[in-house]
Amino acid sequence: MAIKYIPYFKEPIQGQAILDNFTRTKRVLKYAENDKVLNRIERGMPLYEVDTEEIVGNKETENMVIRGECVSACAYLKENNIKVDLVYIDPPFASGADYAKTIYVRRNPKLAEAIEKAEEKLEDEGLRTFEEKMYGDVWNKEAYLNWMYENLMAIKSVMSEKGSIYVHLDWHIGHYVKILMDEIFGEENFIDEIIWHYEKWTAGSNMLQKNHDVIYWYSKSNEFVFNEQRKLTENLKKKYENGYLIGGGYGSNGLVVYDKNNPKAKKLIDSGKYKVVYANTEGKPLSDVWDIPFINPMANERSDYTNQKPEKLLERIIKISSNENMVVADFFGGSGVTAKVANDLNRKFIHCDVGINSIETTRDRLIEAGASFKVMDIKDGVNLYRNPVQTMEKIKSLIPGLKEEESISEFWSGVINDSKVGTIPVYIPNLMDSGTKILDIVLVNKIINGEIPELGDGVRKVIIYYIDIIDKKEVKKFIKENLRRDIEIELKDLKEILDETVVTDVVEYHIEKKEIVIDKFISDRLIGKIDEYNEKMKAQKVATGKKEKRIDISNEGLELIEMISLDCTSKKGTWNSDEEIKIDKKGYVTKNGKKTKEFWDGKIAFKKKPLRIKIRNIAGDESVINV
Ligand SMILES: C[S@@+](CC[C@H](N)C(=O)[O-])C[C@H]1O[C@@H](n2cnc3c(N)ncnc32)[C@H](O)[C@@H]1O
Repeated sequence: MAIKYIPYFKEPIQGQAILDNFTRTKRVLKYAENDKVLNRIERGMPLYEVDTEEIVGNKETENMVIRGECVSACAYLKENNIKVDLVYIDPPFASGADYAKTIYVRRNPKLAEAIEKAEEKLEDEGLRTFEEKMYGDVWNKEAYLNWMYENLMAIKSVMSEKGSIYVHLDWHIGHYVKILMDEIFGEENFIDEIIWHYEKWTAGSNMLQKNHDVIYWYSKSNEFVFNEQRKLTENLKKKYENGYLIGGGYGSNGLVVYDKNNPKAKKLIDSGKYKVVYANTEGKPLSDVWDIPFINPMANERSDYTNQKPEKLLERIIKISSNENMVVADFFGGSGVTAKVANDLNRKFIHCDVGINSIETTRDRLIEAGASFKVMDIKDGVNLYRNPVQTMEKIKSLIPGLKEEESISEFWSGVINDSKVGTIPVYIPNLMDSGTKILDIVLVNKIINGEIPELGDGVRKVIIYYIDIIDKKEVKKFIKENLRRDIEIELKDLKEILDETVVTDVVEYHIEKKEIVIDKFISDRLIGKIDEYNEKMKAQKVATGKKEKRIDISNEGLELIEMISLDCTSKKGTWNSDEEIKIDKKGYVTKNGKKTKEFWDGKIAFKKKPLRIKIRNIAGDESVINV
């Protein structure tokens, strides 16, 4: 259970429509279940314990990389009175897709020397890869909008008065979210809709190519920061070189004067009729349609994170809506683009994401950029696996006897066939949907009045798992008073199952002078994944007759290692990465954040005696061993 609940920002804005009463041109915009979110808003944001896992660089840093859900991260920030001045979010788009991470098997350092020559020109196609699901983006519209409403309410609760928020979406759901934002931030605080236009590979089709995303920009109040940006067009440049120029509007910004010595400008200024804004002379004010290319696959900034956005895009947003030392936050941070650019531009940053792959990618990216920051973990019970998709799959396999059953509604994850009680439907909350993660009265009501009546008369028991429960006594009382059928409801804590399942990898090593030499690395979890992949390839070969693309792992297993870090400062608690090597997908080593052109040799050097070793495998699982 959450330690406590933190109130969202105070009231819906006066005079604004609330979610289920959105009356504009005499019509009512409503969506099914739009009222479901309101009691969660009344209850507040769940606050969990937050651990500092690691501090990189300056110990006093205020920058944060937080693993956890957006709403819980906001609860933490609000409880600690931390305000953010600029928010950019690029949440899942409700696109119906599942996103996968490509996992690259590294070179085997025990063989690297011999194969170095032959492999020197190892191209991308030559790399041995398989995929793992990272996060699902499969939603129905209503659930998505309720989820988004909670996230946006949470974010507004931690925005400073000068704050702006940019929400990056596309045609799938953008227009609906714009209306939610009108409601939450106020229509008068809508600043602009930015169109990000890009080129991409086109395929012939009977439709227009969808080549843009939308970014909605709202402010918290009318005190928001705005730094005008300029775009130099060739035309303007020439004109300016030839003399002077007044331009821009005579609108809300007043008269924009590029050269106050211009006689026409002087006359207008002298008339006193206009508020004069001296703009810098470098070009035309930037419009809200941005042509920024996708990240080139070979670009330095490319981190192989699905849906990674270009630094150039964030650079614009951060420059427009924040000043140096302000706090820039991204609560769906992915590859860490916002944090990286904010740091480059001397802003403070907060990066948050539910997926451990995001936290690792961002951490490594920020180390390479020389940033200082804390890595923090929200103890919400979902932190045991790399990402919620993987956790969901794992949970299902851990409940003894659980089988899928098509004859009951999708609400139930499956059934257990018990010799005494018969068929027991089992409900497991969806970790990807914070709306169902918490067992509250609304959900219990749905179960007893909506789902249970649909079950056949033969069903005598159901099991309800929860990851978080509002108040067990209250829930039991509600069930007792409202259940109108003779059926047993067993409530079970999902975290008890998760707690038993932390699997760590095994490493064998020895110390030679000032070096740790890794002899063997065994990761049962990864080997299982690779076996699954090989089986799939075998079946494909049978079906297509094409050459089988197997992945074979050596006995030493060193090609499954992505990173090794040594803590030479303390035996427990917050991690200090005193020495660190990271092996990139082509086998080159980055040492303490500095890229090299050396292949990994299976060792890591140290100056001070190491007390703990942390090893991250190529899929992102980390294991810690005391030396
Ligand atoms: C489209 S990606 C963001 C990509 C990012 N802008 C970049 O450039 O790399 C969306 C991210 O949201 C994360 N996510 C999904 N649900 C979340 C939640 N409730 N709280 C925080 N992060 C979440 C996913 O793990 C994923 O990394």
